[in-house]
Amino acid sequence: MPCLVIVGGFFGDEGKGKIAAYLANKENPVIAVRGGVGPNAGHTFCYEGKTYKVRMLPSAALNSTTQLLVGAGVLVDPDILLNEIKTFGVFDRTLIDSQCGVIEKEHIERDIAGFHLKNEIGTTGTGTGPANADRAMRVLKLATEIPKLTRYIGDVSDTVNSALEKKDSVLVEGTQGTFLSLYHGSYPYVTSKDVTASAICSDVGLGPKKVDDVLIVFKAYVTRVGRGPLKDEITSDAAKAKGWLEYGSVTGRQRRASPFDPALAKKAIRLNGATQVAITKLDIIFPNSAGVREFSKLPREAQTFIEDVEGETGLRVTLIGTGAELTELIDRRN
Ligand code: IMP
Ligand code: MG
Repeated sequence: MPCLVIVGGFFGDEGKGKIAAYLANKENPVIAVRGGVGPNAGHTFCYEGKTYKVRMLPSAALNSTTQLLVGAGVLVDPDILLNEIKTFGVFDRTLIDSQCGVIEKEHIERDIAGFHLKNEIGTTGTGTGPANADRAMRVLKLATEIPKLTRYIGDVSDTVNSALEKKDSVLVEGTQGTFLSLYHGSYPYVTSKDVTASAICSDVGLGPKKVDDVLIVFKAYVTRVGRGPLKDEITSDAAKAKGWLEYGSVTGRQRRASPFDPALAKKAIRLNGATQVAITKLDIIFPNSAGVREFSKLPREAQTFIEDVEGETGLRVTLIGTGAELTELIDRRN
């Protein structure tokens, strides 16, 4: 590792949580730090038959030693965060940057009350857009002002940079997906910030030259929740027939679906400066690849799909998800 950044290549829900949790269990990073917008993202992973979901903590929460950090650019919903700290029992290794913005009830109300955000854009209704608007107006409360967060407050940027100076490994977890970026996505049907690798590093307080690898995660097909363009979108009946029908982990909304889009993937690789690719849910498009852990044991057509992605993107597909469990994965790093 030393410093690996994980980002989403499409519209979120690519399976970053599983990839991050797998790498955390396998590599034991000293630090896992979350960037991205805030609790509008839900990262899910399954371990030993149990499903876990995080909206505030990094997906490394199951690893018993990794320090769990939340960068200054991430909006914190104190109740969601405290609940996750309790669920995972990570009271002594959670650190929230003192400058994280805080989502209050009023932000959630503004997110769900107005026609524009709720109906036109189709936001998650978690208050992130209004809170970032208040941050831009410089009226948003910071985490350091919230007494119930006091014991978790610190300097995340300093902690991360000091760790890297000691050559400790750091796993940086991005949220959302490239085309939900406020700058590079399908505006106005996007989230309230940039979410490409550079922005994720900025959220954490990490300079670009400190990053060793950018791992971009694509799902084997594309999904999108909320409004906005989706090339070659299929009907929900067709998605159901293919087993592509999914529901949002934060909102429960049905996700729209389309086939893997190589041109979009290529664009995302450039926007993020990606150096490696992970493909998740290969078993959904090729059911006979379910649970396979070696590339050579994949059915021929699944191998061809991966080789085509490599040919089209010019990057190696290092991790391939073949099932929900963390261990259902092909690891081709070296
Ligand atoms: P907001 O981020 O809640 O303001 O929502 C803006 C748009 O981004 C909506 O289309 C949401 O569905 C989408 N969105 C935000 N976060 C995620 C995510 O983590 N996964 C998928 N879609 C997301
Ligand atoms: Mg998600």
